[in-house]
Amino acid sequence: MIEADLVVHGIGQLVTCEPTQGEGPLGLLESAAVAARQGQIVWVGPTSRWQGRLQLPPHATIVDAQGCCVLPGFVDAHSHLLWAGSRADEYAARVRGQPYWGGGIMRTVRMTRAARPAELERAVRKRLRSYLRHGVTALEVKSGYGLDPGTEDRLLRIACGLAEETPQRIVVTFYGAHVVPDGVGTDEYVRELLDVMIPRFRPLAAFCDAWCDPGAFTGAQCRRILNKAHGLGYQLKLHASQLAPGDGPRLAVELGATSVDHLDYLRDGDARMLAESSVVCVVCPGTTTNLRLAGEGSARALAAAGCQLAIATDYNPGTCCSENMCLMIGLACQELGLSPEEAVRGATLGGARALRLQRQCGSVRLGKRCDLLLLDAESYLEIPYRLGVNLVETTICQGTVVT
Ligand code: NIG
Ligand code: FE
Repeated sequence: MIEADLVVHGIGQLVTCEPTQGEGPLGLLESAAVAARQGQIVWVGPTSRWQGRLQLPPHATIVDAQGCCVLPGFVDAHSHLLWAGSRADEYAARVRGQPYWGGGIMRTVRMTRAARPAELERAVRKRLRSYLRHGVTALEVKSGYGLDPGTEDRLLRIACGLAEETPQRIVVTFYGAHVVPDGVGTDEYVRELLDVMIPRFRPLAAFCDAWCDPGAFTGAQCRRILNKAHGLGYQLKLHASQLAPGDGPRLAVELGATSVDHLDYLRDGDARMLAESSVVCVVCPGTTTNLRLAGEGSARALAAAGCQLAIATDYNPGTCCSENMCLMIGLACQELGLSPEEAVRGATLGGARALRLQRQCGSVRLGKRCDLLLLDAESYLEIPYRLGVNLVETTICQGTVVT
């Protein structure tokens, strides 16, 4: 008998995301059950067997999935969660034809710098709660709307504090190399990143990110920034080729970055180069469609080349203010040309890989965190089909029913 304190039985379709455990690329199991103890998966098997196999104490949680589809929790590998204010007006202007060039970032920076810490923390806590309702059980949280040592410090401390109180697994990224803030010279700002911020924030952030695109940082500047970060023990990420083809993908491979994100504009050979590397390609379907970028073809090219893909929200005030991973899966299929299987895998195990969490999250497997989503659907195929509908009815995060 296996001791467990949670069992989900009566699962019609279990998406394990482990091809060796079931049918097809998503490792599907029919009529399944999953059990956990102290937040970890301890048993996966046919639902007809759970009563004979599990020893459950009286306080155990028993969930009848009533034939629905169950997925591993979503892992959002790219999110800018730490900011104040709204730019809904900028969105409306863009819908009427105003182009995007990143100029709104400084508006958010000003509002974020002016916000009281308690007010900021309240806003971020609210976003995390909404994330749970949308089935996100692990996510990245980037800084990058402070762009001075004091404000970046405040943002990163809020992220670390909330990581302790929320059931979700949070990975913190220092993104001081988002853009050069108004009123500071580029060389001066890069110096401040290298000499002050990157060393100071190492205890607060696992990853360091930099934006390699026109209007942000050049490939040479990103190389200096990320080399410094790597030397201090950060894992690396790059925002790259979101606005134009550029040096970012090559740099990500050269530096051994964990992921390169956006990739809406590819150079010839980029997809093959990335496929031959261990760099995870994080695509952000909400942003691609919001900005009407050229990415409609690029995600498909990355998948066709055999790249490791992750699907993320890019949650931010300027280019995609949505925490809805079901919508991201839908847009990945409908607008970027990915298959439902590629998109679902990208939103779970792919996301976990992009955060180096694949040993703990992203699939239904013995020993991993018990993060499960009960859908208001019998099949994962309903997610893209019911475009934009949050089909997550129940979120189980680390073995606890949280919504
Ligand atoms: O990921 N690429 C850089 N930054 C954000 C958008 C920033 C903003 O407009 O506030 C992004 O799309
Ligand atoms: Fe981003």
